[in-house]
Amino acid sequence: MSIEWTKNLESGIPAVDMQHKLLIKKTGELLLACKNAAGKEEAREMIDFLSAYCTEHFVLEENLMRESGYPYYLSHARQHRMFNSLILETWVKVDSEGVATDTVVRLNKALVSWFLEHIMKMDLKMCEYLSAENNKLASGT
Ligand SMILES: [Fe+2]
Repeated sequence: MSIEWTKNLESGIPAVDMQHKLLIKKTGELLLACKNAAGKEEAREMIDFLSAYCTEHFVLEENLMRESGYPYYLSHARQHRMFNSLILETWVKVDSEGVATDTVVRLNKALVSWFLEHIMKMDLKMCEYLSAENNKLASGT
């Protein structure tokens, strides 16, 4: 299964959508490079980018959640930390073993389910809440 941006991933919050699009693009590139037997150095660089960009993205989402008093902040942020750990684990594995087939299969599975589960369920739920809160503020209720 591959990862690509589809309309049903759209949250309605432009800053979040823009970052999700780039995350999905970069994840797809990483998976493709791994499948095409990328060298250790290339894979590490791509993982480094993904890790840094995810951190930036999680900060954005977590700030939005905290500022709005989002009730599921902790469980959502916990999933972000789990994703950071997955990326770190992959980096360590690639660093010690190179781009091994089992690492690629595991990473592919984890990234696909991350995007489907996390963006489609948790992020969209968060964005729905944020949009409703913004509307309340705009209408003064
Ligand atoms: Fe998230």
